[in-house]
Amino acid sequence: MMRCIVLPDVESVEDEATRRLVAGIGKAQAQHGRCALALAGGSTPRGVYRRLAAWPGVDWQRVLVFWGDERAVPPDSPDSNQRLAREALLDQVPIPPSQVHPMPAGSPDLDNAARQYEDLLCSLLGRPPRLDLVLLGLGEDAHTASLFPGSAAAAERARFVVATPAPVIASRLTLTIAALAAADSLLFVVHGASKAWALRQVLHAAPDPLRVPAHALRDAAVTFVVDRAAAGDRSAHGSPS
Ligand code: 6PG
Repeated sequence: MMRCIVLPDVESVEDEATRRLVAGIGKAQAQHGRCALALAGGSTPRGVYRRLAAWPGVDWQRVLVFWGDERAVPPDSPDSNQRLAREALLDQVPIPPSQVHPMPAGSPDLDNAARQYEDLLCSLLGRPPRLDLVLLGLGEDAHTASLFPGSAAAAERARFVVATPAPVIASRLTLTIAALAAADSLLFVVHGASKAWALRQVLHAAPDPLRVPAHALRDAAVTFVVDRAAAGDRSAHGSPS
């Protein structure tokens, strides 16, 4: 089931998303001792990561961190999702380094790297890998993670991690729908008028999982936390008139 929470602005979206992440981490830890958390990339999560890093009382000793996708760039590249998460969150909290599992997207053989990461996920979380909580963004074209509309990666239902070409930045490693659908909870954070079309496709268009990959997650526990601009409210501050 897909729930969508519409909030007035970016600030309230980031606060609500952080609260939900903290609650999800605590729920997983209460249920089975640890939380397997997959992080998102792009620019949207930065504010959430900073809030999460500052949130008191999160038991980081019992969190395992993975990524939903990664660009095929060096980990110190400004385009690296790993760098974003380390700078805004992971370098600020007492998480054991051995519990942080970046995608090996710097490998010259991305397909082999995808298989390695899939083996890691399944060795730690079972098959299918049971992530407790996955943070996701939404691209203007309605991609999520690095599942781009019309791509073989978006159509993949057997493997849990694949390499994929991407229209922007670089080739990627990405969790597939098979991995995302196996997760206990998925949290999308979406803000800005530029995302209004994509969000409308996800929430209101007829099911078409190849064109809108998130449609394949309709039966999963999905929550969207969005601002009015992304929800298409033209009266929202800063949205086009
Ligand atoms: C990535 C992300 C991707 C992102 C969307 C939205 O690696 O690019 O994982 O799925 O969430 O592209 O990106 P923004 O947050 O920058 O708008």
